[in-house]
Amino acid sequence: MPDNVEMEKIVSLCKRRGFIFPSSEIYGGLSSCWDYGPMGVELKRNVKNAWWEAIVQERDDVVGIDTSIMMHPGVWKASGHVDSFTDPLVECKSCHLRWRASEISNEKCPTCSGKLTEPRMFNLMFKTFMGPVEEEASTIYLRPETAQGIFVNFENVLTTSRKKLPLGIAQIGKSFRNEITPGNFIFRTREFEHMELEYFVKPGTDELWFDYWVKERLEWYIKLGIRRGNLRLRQHGKEELAHYAKDCYDIEYLFPKGWSELEGIANRGDYDLTQHAKYSGRDLSYYDSENNERYIPYVIEPSAGVDRSVLALLIDAYHEEVVEGGTRVVLRLQPSLAPMKAAVLPLSKNERLTPLAKKVYAQLCLSFMTCYDDSQSIGRRYRRQDEIGTPFCITIDFQSLEDNLVTIRERDSLAQIRVPIEELEKTLQAKLSGEPFEATPLWATRQK
Ligand code: GAP
Repeated sequence: MPDNVEMEKIVSLCKRRGFIFPSSEIYGGLSSCWDYGPMGVELKRNVKNAWWEAIVQERDDVVGIDTSIMMHPGVWKASGHVDSFTDPLVECKSCHLRWRASEISNEKCPTCSGKLTEPRMFNLMFKTFMGPVEEEASTIYLRPETAQGIFVNFENVLTTSRKKLPLGIAQIGKSFRNEITPGNFIFRTREFEHMELEYFVKPGTDELWFDYWVKERLEWYIKLGIRRGNLRLRQHGKEELAHYAKDCYDIEYLFPKGWSELEGIANRGDYDLTQHAKYSGRDLSYYDSENNERYIPYVIEPSAGVDRSVLALLIDAYHEEVVEGGTRVVLRLQPSLAPMKAAVLPLSKNERLTPLAKKVYAQLCLSFMTCYDDSQSIGRRYRRQDEIGTPFCITIDFQSLEDNLVTIRERDSLAQIRVPIEELEKTLQAKLSGEPFEATPLWATRQK
């Protein structure tokens, strides 16, 4: 497989196979907005489930939450986003295009060579109005991070969950940023999904927990199948820290354009709770009954992007190889992430094969995402499944009508085994959970 997969190949595969389409395509698309198709929505759901399992389900020190996108405007004043979530921009006096000041190498507009204004701060939050009157008093913002929904519910969650610190609150949801330079497919968009954990700890223990979460989060990507060599950690310099951060590490992935941020892990100190206590007038301190002391907790925040994780997983899984003189494109996604776990493929549309194939499909789709495909040649159908990363194809042929055995073909090795239909679901469950493919020698045959 090429070590540096070109982004065009990923974009083309995503379109061709129903992972990701340009938004509002029949109207010419909308810049930096994308829609997830039938395969993309499954992959995205699997990524979110994997995060939720690791962060919430498998831990008794983290609970989940789902807060609203629109919040009281005071939240964004307190959080510092109204004043500090900005980028310095210059505007062309002739064509009025805006540019990041840091991207301009001379004093001229890169498009029309017009004169530029002095840099001005531009806020990245989307503004809108709540209610029928479009006036300053009814201005609200679409959230640029899900984190603030967690901070303002800290007290609610603490009292209702009856948990003690350290305590994490996790959330997955949409965020919106009026990015100046979106692009690189779904890498940077104006609407995206966050997976955020705010982990509240006793001050003084924050650095230990910070190190812990940096390691945990790096491990998570490796467990999902991303190659270690394509991941690295990078600590932020003092000058690039966000307005709330005391320290921050990025987990970076080797995207086609080079190393770039996949996830940020920040030590937010007591910044957010202190600010919300000040602006709301509520006491957001924590009473530590074991040590009989009261303090504002510090917060460690691993903050990941769903869409960016999907992109890194697609790039890392993309392989091209030569099989029988032709190029095979295959997505080597882990079974837990693959949109379809199995595909039922009758050898042909023959009316004798269809009822048995449909029966097998009806049985399997109760247990996991399965697709049924009987159009075109079996070879083309295999290729289609390889391209969407389906780990197992089940072929029903005329012999199956006689002996009740069907063929399972494994995506990566192309090995095939024949199994009795009554054993099929159990066998697939075992293989999807990681049992080696050739562990059933009774039925094994191998064909490349
Ligand atoms: N609450 C902290 C926070 O939002 P961030 O570094 O701005 O931190 C965290 O964002 C992650 O969210 C990034 O590492 C990236 O994966 C994702 N992300 C941020 N902005 C994005 C955008 N415009 N498009 C897609 N993903 C984005």
